[in-house]
Amino acid sequence: MKQAVARAALEYVVEGRIIGVGTGSTARLFIEELATLKDRIAGAVASSEDTRQRLEGHGIRVFDLNEITDMPVYIDGADEITPEMHMIKGGGGALTREKIVSAVAGKFICIVDGTKVVDYLGRFPLPVEVIPMASAYVARELVKMGGSPAVREGFVTDNGNLILDVKGLQILDPVNFETRLNQIAGVVTNGLFANRPADVCLIGTPEGVRMMTAD
Ligand code: A5P
Repeated sequence: MKQAVARAALEYVVEGRIIGVGTGSTARLFIEELATLKDRIAGAVASSEDTRQRLEGHGIRVFDLNEITDMPVYIDGADEITPEMHMIKGGGGALTREKIVSAVAGKFICIVDGTKVVDYLGRFPLPVEVIPMASAYVARELVKMGGSPAVREGFVTDNGNLILDVKGLQILDPVNFETRLNQIAGVVTNGLFANRPADVCLIGTPEGVRMMTAD
């Protein structure tokens, strides 16, 4: 099902332009598909070192985000997505660069299998990237907000920071919760993508690929 949505996402690749590329197992399948079109795009911007290496391995030119001013499309997976197109991302730990690259993109195309579609966010532990010296403080603040945070063991982000995975949340107002989490000193990024939701979600199901939009 992930393979099917990765292939279906090629429809959204704009010829002659730069594409933003996400991180994770579904994004990896998309990179394989994108390689078949590599002569028809100007290049890509990567949301992680892993993605950059994979793109370059296929001979796709990878641009630094600061080199470009606009990018029509960003394609990435998600850990959870609601019918409102709000997402939890960061299961692979690349949430900060994913949020930055997707902020520049005109459209966010989310590619998931059907198990990722949920009524509300929070059963998947919410990843929060934190400056290492702030991890204990941020964890205490997250407890006050109703969560049970744990440092992701043995993991350092591409930006040299730590991830707190927060269990026990039932996130009914993700737009405001994303903003509140960003106010905690020491938080670099949280894995809620609600203020900038996906524009289109391609969902892999046993019956085929289904499309969901916010409208
Ligand atoms: C990476 O940090 C994540 O945001 C991924 O996009 C997300 O975890 C989905 O990953 P899979 O495609 O591997 O399920």
